Amino acid sequence: MEKRRILTGDRPTGKLHLGHYVGSIKNRVKLQDQYECFFIVADLHTMTTKPEKKHIEEITGHSRDLVLDYIACGINPENSPIYLQSAVHEVYEMNLFFEMLVTVPRLQRIPSLKDMAKSADLQEMPFGLLGYPILQAADILMPRAHLVPVGKDNESHVELTREIARRFNYLYGEVFPVPDVLVGDVGSLVGTDGSAKMSKSLNNAVFLSDDAKTVEKKVMGMYTDPNRVRADIPGRVEGNPVFMYHDAFNTDLQEVEDLKERYRNGKVGDVEVKQKLAAALNSFLDPLRDRRQAAAEQGGYVDEVLYEGTMRVREEARATLQEMKKAMGVSGIWNKISRKAEKARKRRS
Ligand code: TRP
Repeated sequence: MEKRRILTGDRPTGKLHLGHYVGSIKNRVKLQDQYECFFIVADLHTMTTKPEKKHIEEITGHSRDLVLDYIACGINPENSPIYLQSAVHEVYEMNLFFEMLVTVPRLQRIPSLKDMAKSADLQEMPFGLLGYPILQAADILMPRAHLVPVGKDNESHVELTREIARRFNYLYGEVFPVPDVLVGDVGSLVGTDGSAKMSKSLNNAVFLSDDAKTVEKKVMGMYTDPNRVRADIPGRVEGNPVFMYHDAFNTDLQEVEDLKERYRNGKVGDVEVKQKLAAALNSFLDPLRDRRQAAAEQGGYVDEVLYEGTMRVREEARATLQEMKKAMGVSGIWNKISRKAEKARKRRS
């Protein structure tokens, strides 16, 4: 039996951090052998909030960083194409047809879009940003994916994708599977400063590409239980960022339990808890560092990966768009006109 398919990916906006890893990358790495996977570098989506030329000029570099992060995480591009969204033109066309199947109020109810407009300092909603999840639906339905592993913030976009797939199939016949969403196990990792989300712009992120010294420095500066002013008073483990990271990354469960126990009883200092966390994070990151270095040493490798992946996906996109237009009867419009025109031309000559 053919493998079921996954499509997922990220906008190329900079380096990935631990929050991306637990929120979605981890699932992808785990599922890549079980499923046929397609990984999108969603550069068109970055333009929904940043259409200026200076931002477009940054996309090449950011895309390379992203691909290198994927490879570092253990995604194998030999089996799973990684591709550049803006180089697959069929998706633009699919996007347009899907726009006909969604209402404006439906889109206005999606909270992540308002959040994105707000954090990009946009006073009013750009049409393209309102259409962000429709473009995402085009990405997902293009290879006819069955499963979409994403972070919590993207869950509502996949929900819309499901509605679009159902509506399309109802109107024109069964073309698309209705894809399932798979949300990462830590919805979103808190920042090193304890704020709800790890993010580059909040300056509270540990990047997958940080070296060991940087990781140590960031961890030693992390927020812990604010009420615990001395090491000998009982501390709170729940909601404590340092312990949340231990839970997410430290594979030595016994060490984590021991630290929690002693922390609750005022028998361990923050410094020890943090040193052990830094060590755990660095041993998690070490294999990523090795893979990153191996890839970086082969000149042009990252670009080749994106090139090959894009070429592969273009074939998929061509086939889906063709089938889609046929089901809709759109290809028939021009076919009839052009056939008759050619006949008429021949008759006259
Ligand atoms: N919306 C995703 C993000 O937040 C990027 C993305 C674009 C995506 N198209 C996708 C994710 C399709 C999963 C599937 O960066």
